[in-house]
Amino acid sequence: GFSLKERAANKGLIYGAAARQIDLSSNASYAAAIVQNCNMLVPEWEFKWIAGNARLRPSPEQFDFTAADWMANFAATHGQLLRGHTLVWHDSLPEWFKTSVNSRNAAQLLEKHIQTVVKRYAGKIHSWDVVNEAIKIEDGRSDGWRITPWLELLGPNYLDLAFHLTAATDPEALLVYNDFGLDYDTPEQEAKRTAVLKLLERLRTNGTPIHALGIQAHLSPAENKFNPSKLRKFLQDVASMGLKIMITEMDVADKKLPKDIQIRDRIIAGVYEDYLSTALDERAVIAVITWGLSDRYTYVSESQPRSDRAPVRPLPLDAQMQRKLAWNAIARAF
Ligand code: XIL
Repeated sequence: GFSLKERAANKGLIYGAAARQIDLSSNASYAAAIVQNCNMLVPEWEFKWIAGNARLRPSPEQFDFTAADWMANFAATHGQLLRGHTLVWHDSLPEWFKTSVNSRNAAQLLEKHIQTVVKRYAGKIHSWDVVNEAIKIEDGRSDGWRITPWLELLGPNYLDLAFHLTAATDPEALLVYNDFGLDYDTPEQEAKRTAVLKLLERLRTNGTPIHALGIQAHLSPAENKFNPSKLRKFLQDVASMGLKIMITEMDVADKKLPKDIQIRDRIIAGVYEDYLSTALDERAVIAVITWGLSDRYTYVSESQPRSDRAPVRPLPLDAQMQRKLAWNAIARAF
């Protein structure tokens, strides 16, 4: 039948996945599956300052665009939209950052990063995750903001600075604030949703150019019960600020789910269907992106491995690129 990108497009939606050059370039059937299913590509490593074998910013003075260009070229060759992930994040900072960056040179260093990277891909990027994961309730600040090097070096205006610089360098791209832990009806996630809404409101009030919220949606059904009305309310609150919403990194951890593959796959598919049917009720949601496409290459195997060491099955295709029930669930949700 139709692929996910065709089903999504029929509803005016985007479907995409994160992927890495090392996997796309070494596995032709995986690359073919990415091309067949996705009308958007998210470089999982290549646009980060440093991640895996990819080093976009090997030193304060140097940029290496080899891997990022390869991904941009892959997307262009196959008619896929491209996301930029990510400019400002506490994670994926190079070793040299600790020793070379201080409050006197931090703004200039960020400015150089954004002006160089964003300029290179200007006009080719659908959306930039300008800032990733700026809220962490557990850090204990009254505003819920995560204590990151960027906050410490630049103060609370670091988000405004990053969004302004990005907008000035690529006026076409949709500018996104992206975060995780916004999905469930727990006190922690409720507090995080509230802090994110406040952060977005602050940016809007300041006149800072922001266009969308990215909801990562790394789901873990064994630990959490999903409450559709809580999610729906949050999405409405975001939409009423005039922001678009993207589901940016969806996967379903199967840690603590039964080992039996048929049972596990049925539960996982149900999680995709429940979450996406709720999310896609909200007209402001424009895209669904899974964090990977095939169980062969998945972040869940590092972030949430099973204690029985059985291979994890968090994504729409299995390790042999065959469709799973999760694929059908996503297709039905579109
Ligand atoms: C992860 C990648 O999938 C891993 O391969 C890498 O080692 C670490 O980063 N939130 C994000 C993503 O915004 O960038 C992260 O990606 C997963 C959590």
